[in-house]
Amino acid sequence: MPADTSTDTPIELCASADLSEGGLAVPFDVVCDGEPCRAFAIRFEGRVHAYLNRCTHVAMELDWQPNRFFDDTGQWLLCASHGAVYAPDTGEGVAGPCQGGLLKIELTEADGTVRWQPTERLRPVVF
Ligand code: FES
Repeated sequence: MPADTSTDTPIELCASADLSEGGLAVPFDVVCDGEPCRAFAIRFEGRVHAYLNRCTHVAMELDWQPNRFFDDTGQWLLCASHGAVYAPDTGEGVAGPCQGGLLKIELTEADGTVRWQPTERLRPVVF
């Protein structure tokens, strides 16, 4: 059977206006390596970024309050459990017990809409 490539079309995630600079994230669901996972999108220095919501220290979700990933300065993403600190634009771990970086999900923003790009590892949830 030929591979189904139809799901590689970027998937609509939210309106551009839903992501404010250093503000609350927009959560979404993905399937990563065959497992259902949470992901989140944020805006930082004007650009949109998305990551798997899974700390690299222990496989736990990062947010301490729903959709709150930024620290008080709006400059860093924090894991609430043990304080890992990640760069918002790359997902790279910069402090705390993180090993490596967050798994980045490619986004595009056009015509007031943000979309995410499925890959071989990251698939949309099929209902
Ligand atoms: S689970 Fe995130 S810092 Fe430990």
